[in-house]
Amino acid sequence: MRFEPEAKHGANNGLNVARDLLEPIKQEFPWISYGDLWTLAGVAAIQELGGPKIPWRPGRIDGFAAQCTPDGRLPDAAQGADHVRNIFYRMGFNDQEIVALVGAHALGRCHRDRSGFDGPWTFSPTSVTNEFYKLLLNEKWVWKKWDGPKQLEDKKTHSLMMLPTDYVLIQDKSFKKWVKAYAEDEQLWFKDFAAAVSTLFELGVPTQQFVSSEPWILKGSDEQ
Ligand code: HEM
Repeated sequence: MRFEPEAKHGANNGLNVARDLLEPIKQEFPWISYGDLWTLAGVAAIQELGGPKIPWRPGRIDGFAAQCTPDGRLPDAAQGADHVRNIFYRMGFNDQEIVALVGAHALGRCHRDRSGFDGPWTFSPTSVTNEFYKLLLNEKWVWKKWDGPKQLEDKKTHSLMMLPTDYVLIQDKSFKKWVKAYAEDEQLWFKDFAAAVSTLFELGVPTQQFVSSEPWILKGSDEQ
């Protein structure tokens, strides 16, 4: 994402906002790679917003423009279970890990001018909770009538949203089992989410060859 082709991939829309916020930190600490800075910011954000501590270690080496991935390898929110499995199985994840990862949609929202979708998934979009799973299971979801891309809204308040790829998590039996488990047990989700995010953030990092350190656990801003 440091280079034009990948920075401009549709599925990366809006991530320029986060990259720009981190640029002054890169300027102050130029020895950290962009890859390490961005994943470190991710684990710091998750734990500071009330989520689990994600084991993290440095080692991601910044590549060159010629190494940009082709477009189309990121998940497309408009598609179904087969697509989601294709994308995540290729990276080595199973159904349980897919469901655990997408629970990150407890945070934040969709933006009309970025993905085209609109609205938050939960009523507490700056807290890492298992609300995404609870709402997905317990609310009634109906297709939103609007001129934007196909998405769902909660029938009760019309203020929350689900993407088609979120909705397949309760339509597919193998996914739904894990939605139920994580809706019932936030600690179980925290544990599985931390493990899956850690794996995701180390994909492509040459940990075996170059990085011998045990993963780090960051101290919280409220800890000494
Ligand atoms: C099937 C897989 C996934 C699809 C199709 C998907 C799709 C999307 C889309 C369309 C948005 C809205 C972007 C915007 O309009 O600003 C979004 C936002 C977001 N996604 Fe995902 N996502 C997926 C998996 C994940 C995973 C694995 C994570 C992290 C572990 C994640 C974390 C987030 C967060 C935190 C936001 C909110 C961003 C903001 O508030 O600006 N997503 N995602």
